[in-house]
Parts: sequence; C-alpha cells; structure tokens
Amino acid sequence: MTAQLNPRGDVAVLVPAAGAGVRLGPGRPKALRLLAGEPLLVHAVRRLAAAPSVHTIVVAAPTAEVQAVRELLAPVAPVIVVPGGAERQASVAAALAAVPAGPTIVLVHDAARALTPPELVESVAAAVRSGRDAVIPVLPVVDTIKEVGAGEVVLGTVDRSALRAVQTPQGFRRAVLSAAHAAAGDSLTDDAGLVEKQGVEVSCVPGSEYAVKITRPFDLALAEHLLATTG
Ligand code: CTP
Ligand code: MG
Repeated sequence: MTAQLNPRGDVAVLVPAAGAGVRLGPGRPKALRLLAGEPLLVHAVRRLAAAPSVHTIVVAAPTAEVQAVRELLAPVAPVIVVPGGAERQASVAAALAAVPAGPTIVLVHDAARALTPPELVESVAAAVRSGRDAVIPVLPVVDTIKEVGAGEVVLGTVDRSALRAVQTPQGFRRAVLSAAHAAAGDSLTDDAGLVEKQGVEVSCVPGSEYAVKITRPFDLALAEHLLATTG
C-alpha cells in the first residue's frame, strides 16, 4: 500500500540517490542494491514517508534509472523523481529545483542511510521549526583521532571531545538552503558545509546509530543484521 504523505506537512525531503556506489563494489547503482531483498532506496523512502511532517519527497535518481525508480517507488509512497547529477551537490540541486510551493523546511537525506528512523527526520525538522536555520544530526566520535603527515607519521592527537560525526537528514529553512545552492562554488559532500560558507549558524541534534551510511560491504552486512534483529 502506498503511504500517503501529509498535505499539511511543512517538510520537503530531498533524497540524493544518483551515486554509483563504487566503494560497495561492482554492481548496480548503490540506491538500487538489495538489503534484505529490497533496494536501499525503498527502505529509505519508506521510513521518510512514515514521518508525519513530510509533505513532499524528491528523489534524485541515476540518469539511466529515472523511470525504473519511479516504478519502484510508486507502491511505496508518492514521490517526485528527477535525474541526478555527476556530483552529490548537483543531485541535491536538481532535487531542490523540483520542490513545489508549500514546504518551508527542506531536509537532505542520503538514500545510502537506508535505515534512518522516522523519529530522526522529525527531530531534525522540529529543530528547524523551532527557529534554527540549519540543523545536523551528529554522533560523538568514539575512536581516538590522529593527524598524520607524510609517510603516515603521526603529527598529533586531535581533541576528540570537540569532534562530531555528521549524518543525514540535514535540515534547513528552505530559503537558507536555496541561497546556499545559488551561491555554491566547489562541490561539497555535505549541505551544511554549503550554508556554513554563507555564514549561517549550523546547530546539532543527537543522531542515530541506525542512520549509518552504507558505504562498504561491511556496512551492508551490518544493515542486514540490524534489520534482522530489530525489524
Ligand atoms: N549521490 C548522488 N549523486 C551523485 C553522487 C552521490 O545523488 N553524483 C548520493 C548517493 O546516491 C548517496 C549519497 O549521495 O545516497 C551519499 O553518497 P555516497 O555514500 O558517497 O554514495 P555513492 O557516491 O553512490 O558511493 P561511492 O562514493 O562509493 O561511489
Ligand atoms: Mg560518493
């Protein structure tokens, strides 16, 4: 059954899903790789559609897969599918351009973070709604971090207490993200980085272990395990 999105919601979610998945190894584009028998993108969109604030979902698909992605997602949720770009930032820009009038909050969410719970979508959106311009979900860094130089020689130990690992969805006041993309220069892998360059304050909320980015084969195995043990 198709999950209906909330026509009174105030959130549009952009889902960059046009990457190749090179680090996952040979195969289909990453968003279409299977996790427990379903493509990563289906898992991701299903969870986004379950977040009550979501009004619109726009997916940036691999150019050759736009029609296939439309058909794949039709039974999952009503979504807009556009062709992505060569870099993640171009895919986000293409999706942003397709957002209809209405939503005042825009979230950007990697299809590769397929198990992100709807609660995290809501907490990021709520922080933007409460007046923040830009909000990112973060986790503390658990490993000791060293700075290294030539020949892999350690230059120093970084103070871990001031570091955070950043996830998606990243949330923005719509006008803030639009302005940042309009002014964007070098391609970045993170949308908050673009608004930081505009001098906009970016705030953190607690992230989720389930929002892990599936990047390498180990991550896919981990995600399979998480699904099998928690549903
Ligand atoms: N992405 C995108 N368009 C691109 C590149 C990436 O929409 N040109 C998306 C990916 O589909 C993914 C998210 O951005 O959902 C995060 O990127 P990443 O995890 O790096 O995915 P890939 O680029 O597919 O993986 P790799 O870098 O290993 O090729
Ligand atoms: Mg990539």
